[in-house]
Amino acid sequence: MNSKQLKELKATQRTQMILALDVDSFSKAKYFVDLLYPRVKIFKVGLQLFIACGGKIIRYIREKGGRIFLDLKFYDIPNTAANASREVVRMGGIEMFTVHTQGGPEMMQRVKGAVREEACRLGIKAPLIIGVTLLTSEAQSSKITPLVISLTRAARTAGLDGVVASVKETGRLRQEFGGDLIIVTPGIRLAGGEKGDQRRIAAPEEAKGAGSNYIVAGRPILEAKNPLAITRAIIKRIDSA
Ligand code: C5P
Repeated sequence: MNSKQLKELKATQRTQMILALDVDSFSKAKYFVDLLYPRVKIFKVGLQLFIACGGKIIRYIREKGGRIFLDLKFYDIPNTAANASREVVRMGGIEMFTVHTQGGPEMMQRVKGAVREEACRLGIKAPLIIGVTLLTSEAQSSKITPLVISLTRAARTAGLDGVVASVKETGRLRQEFGGDLIIVTPGIRLAGGEKGDQRRIAAPEEAKGAGSNYIVAGRPILEAKNPLAITRAIIKRIDSA
């Protein structure tokens, strides 16, 4: 993609915020969904919450009208990952879910095939499959970007819809893979915010500027004294970027 095409793409690109519901109970998750929907439309359910309350929170978000990002980061042998992905389709109403790109090409291809087949069998829209590249908790080094590009290439070849990558790699990925690749960017922090265990972090407007489709924020909102105010601030910074 040349720089003119990239500029045009960025001018039309929309970036949406996803709230990572990293809490330990249905009632806490419900509190944040009730407080922030419809300002936030997409909620990420990860390992902690899914283990704590399973499908209950998925049904709640769905009934409320929210969209769901199921972030269980499948990393297993091809058969197991594919069968787990079939169950994700059967749950219904999952907009996107994650697998680890480091699970390898065969695993990703089998996941893609299973999702397509199951969605077709049920006559429903297939969820988007998003490949996790390298965790944003890994520190920046010169090896990271080439590795993320090669994992993304493998994900695209296997038919995945997008990847999770930090803002540090997002610009290169957009340039390399064009506008069709969905890029999800965690590690979002406002100036002066606690990093926690994240390393490759960035502000919301930087992620948008680099070409991210979705930014993921968890602790900056969940641990805030005023979660609504922080959410508003993040959305404002995306919209005015
Ligand atoms: O609290 P914080 O904003 O750091 O949360 C980031 C969220 O994004 C967490 O739920 C984490 O599991 C997820 N994530 C990440 N890095 C990845 C993939 C997912 O931080 N590469």
